[in-house]
This record gives sequence, C-alpha cells and structure tokens, in this order.
Amino acid sequence: MQLPLPRGPITARLVDALAAPPHAFGLPLPDPACPALRDDDLQLALFVCYELHYRGFDEVDDGWEWNTSLLGLREALERRFEEGLAGAVPRPPAVPPGRLRRAMTELVAAADGDGPPLAAFLQHRADREQFREFVVHRSVYHLKEADPHTWAIPRLHGRAKAALVEIQSDEYGCGRLERMHAELFRATMRGLDLDDSYGAHVDRVPAITLAIGNAMSLFGLHRRHRGALLGHLAAFEMTSSTPNLKYSRGLRRLGGDSAARRFYDEHVQADAVHEQIALNDMCGGFAADHPALTGDVLYGAACALALDRLFAEHVMGCWQRGSTSLHPAGLAVGSR
Ligand SMILES: [Fe+2]
Ligand SMILES: [Fe+2]
Repeated sequence: MQLPLPRGPITARLVDALAAPPHAFGLPLPDPACPALRDDDLQLALFVCYELHYRGFDEVDDGWEWNTSLLGLREALERRFEEGLAGAVPRPPAVPPGRLRRAMTELVAAADGDGPPLAAFLQHRADREQFREFVVHRSVYHLKEADPHTWAIPRLHGRAKAALVEIQSDEYGCGRLERMHAELFRATMRGLDLDDSYGAHVDRVPAITLAIGNAMSLFGLHRRHRGALLGHLAAFEMTSSTPNLKYSRGLRRLGGDSAARRFYDEHVQADAVHEQIALNDMCGGFAADHPALTGDVLYGAACALALDRLFAEHVMGCWQRGSTSLHPAGLAVGSR
C-alpha cells in the first residue's frame, strides 16, 4: 500500500517523516477547534499510525511501528478522537450482566430507522456509480475485515474467547482462502470494475469513513477498550443481515452476478448466527467475568451505531445534493 496523500499539516509532516528511516520528530498537534470525527487531517493521520500495526506501507521502514515519537503523536490524535466520540455518543449506563443482552437489543432497536435509509436506497434506487462509491467507502474496512476485532483474542479467556474465535474463524473463511470475507469482497469490487488491491481507495474516502475503521483500531489496540471492542463487534453482527440482503438485491438489480453478490449473501446467513454467538457467549461470557465493564460493551455498540448513522448521513446528503460522497481522485485534500 502506498502512503496516502496529505490532507493538512499533520499528515503532510507525518508522510514526510515516514519516507525516512525511523527517527525522533515533532509534529503539529490536532486543532482542538476542529470536530474530530470530520477532521480529514486528524482521521487520516490516525489511519496512517494504525496501519503501521497492520500491513504497513510500501517503502516505509517497519521500525516506525513502535517509534516513540510516532506513538506520542498517535496518543495525541487518539485523545482528540476519544473526545470527539464522547461528544457524539452518549455513554450508556452499566447494567447487571444478566440484562446486557436486553440492553444491547434495545440499543440496536432504538438506532433502527435513526438516520437516512442508505440500505433501502442502494436496494431500490442507487445507480451503478453510487453503488461503486458505496463499495469504495466500505473497502477501507472490508479488505481487512475482522482484523481489528482479532486484537481482542489474546485479551480474553474462557467462554468469551471461544465465542470470538468462532466468529473470527468464519470471517477468515475457516482457513479457506476463497471463503475469507475479505476475499469475497475483492470479488465484489472486481464485479464493479474497481481496483481490489489493499488500500487502493484510501485517498478517496472522507474523514467519517476513516473514523469508522479508526474506532475499531482504537478499541482493538488498547486493552482498556476491550469491552467496547466486543460491543462494537456485537453491534456489527446484530445490524448486518438485513442491510446485506438489501445490498445484494440492489447489486442484482444493477446486473451484479452471483460472484459479485456472494459477499453480501454470505453475511445474510453468517451474521444471523454471529449475532447470537456475539450476544450470548461473547458479550454474555465477558459480562459474567467483568460485571463492571457492561457499560463499556454498550458504549462500543453505541459508537458503531452512531458512526454508521453519520456515514449514512454523509453519503445520502451528498447524493441528495447531486454530488459525489468521495474526494476527487488524485487530489490532496485540505481540511482547514
Ligand atoms: Fe464478515
Ligand atoms: Fe460476521
């Protein structure tokens, strides 16, 4: 993956620094006046810092991953991001472990219909170019699908760990490359004549799309957020089957063949099962062991739901104005 184009002073300096061997450096800090969830420079800088823990970048020294200057910058970016999330997402109160399943279900039900109907639009009305845009946005996460939640595995034990491994095993195709969800998504991209290589579209996506992935990495890379990470995954699974059925139908309406639709069709079935495993055993087992952390589980779920709503508002808002929801190709984006 190539380093992305800068979008402001932080990413300009960061990209410049990463082109050289690891060294100590000082960087401009995020602007406290800029809303963190919509700050292109902040979200892209955070994305770059996190990506060093995944597949890294072409021609960037792997030694940057644990460089103390870079970790210092990441901490400052994360502080702003966490403040932005806290401002956008009310923190649900903790509940007794036995009530967590019901509280999660109520949270998801309350969010249902809260926000523009992006899935229904894609099913019935989107044109091929709009569907391609949607897939470009989603590619930032789906091409590394499941990886951020895998960070939780060594942080868990017992029933919760077994349940998470069961879900993740499915996400990774149970050891079969052709069934790996990220590979299925690559087929969807090829079916829409999109470049399916990892990170190919990062320069095109706005801050809110990057924020969706960054929230998972934030929760995944900090043990203190392990409850939120599980809640985030559970919310994903609980809100997946119905939209994926709509995406599949929309893609079929636009001429997508079964190979292109398989990613969505697979999730209709798999996530109905994952939802139960995530609620009963993963979150239920975690809550039984950590009764004080049920509020964190609910907060992670609430963050997933809120970011998805903000994403839908962005995409539908742009489309209603007759404009693209992506950044222009090949142009650096200034956020301030
Ligand atoms: Fe999946
Ligand atoms: Fe799933």
